[in-house]
Amino acid sequence: MRWVRKELWSSSTARRGEARHHRRERYPKRPSRVFRMDRQRKRKRSRSRTAGSAGHIRYNRAVWDRISGWYDCRHACVLGGTPATAWGLFRVPESKLGLLGNTRGKAILELGCGAARWSIALARGGARSTGIDLSSVQLARARELQRESKVRFPLVRASAEQLPLRDGVFDLVFCDWGAMTFADPMRTVPECARVLRPGGKFVFATASPFRYVTFDRAKDRQSRRLLRPYFGSYRIDLGSDAAVEFQLPYGTWIDLFRKNGLTVERLMETRPTPGRQSRYLSRPDAKWGRSWPLETIWKLRKE
Ligand SMILES: C[S@@+](CC[C@H](N)C(=O)[O-])C[C@H]1O[C@@H](n2cnc3c(N)ncnc32)[C@H](O)[C@@H]1O
Repeated sequence: MRWVRKELWSSSTARRGEARHHRRERYPKRPSRVFRMDRQRKRKRSRSRTAGSAGHIRYNRAVWDRISGWYDCRHACVLGGTPATAWGLFRVPESKLGLLGNTRGKAILELGCGAARWSIALARGGARSTGIDLSSVQLARARELQRESKVRFPLVRASAEQLPLRDGVFDLVFCDWGAMTFADPMRTVPECARVLRPGGKFVFATASPFRYVTFDRAKDRQSRRLLRPYFGSYRIDLGSDAAVEFQLPYGTWIDLFRKNGLTVERLMETRPTPGRQSRYLSRPDAKWGRSWPLETIWKLRKE
């Protein structure tokens, strides 16, 4: 933890913010006047910090705080244990894809870490992990898993769109359907580039643009028809209490990466083997993924 305090935090304000957050988690029902004032001040500050994007950040935080317990129960079996370092909808092991490279001794940031199973597994292997997430409920679960596994590293409640971290301190920034799915890429990509060292890697798995263009909301499944424009698809609101997601056309992703000094090393479009099921998908949607890409994994290098 000590190296993080010295090297990562961009300001003492961020440190104070984390400390206050810990206190609030431990005593969530504390009704004192001081506590309420503190909350009001915090709300005011977050309004000014996220002007223009506050809508989806607030909304997504509320969604993730609400569904975190359900999400963790439902997916713990595929997210935890030995498959903890596995990618995407079909849980392809990192040992097979080798996207992160050797992580021993590396400073690693997981964006939207959830219960931080990936980061815990990487820290066990000798990485210097840091996890950030928007949701305090997700982070509370991450702290439980840290206690159970006796693996400790910093967990920060923040939005990936505004990282309270210093420039150029990470060797690797990554996420598996984390903040790169739910945060505005026009804000997150510059932030990730900023906190990476030259030569550092940025790897993330998220939906493919095809998934949104063909998703039939009424039937709640993938279709074989183009139901939404590809160009201009940016902020995606699938309704029914789902978190807001973001997606860009491929060319716009690449322009955004280049503008921020990131070079594409690899773009993987995961394809399930015949008959392969996914804990996240219905059978027909998993089968759909044999013919069209459901998800992409980008691997980038900071120049
Ligand atoms: C689908 S979960 C994935 C978590 C983890 N990769 C896993 O598989 O358990 C997405 C996570 O992203 C977090 N998230 C959403 N928007 C975020 C943002 N703007 N900044 C940081 N985290 C965010 C959510 O709170 C949630 O924990």
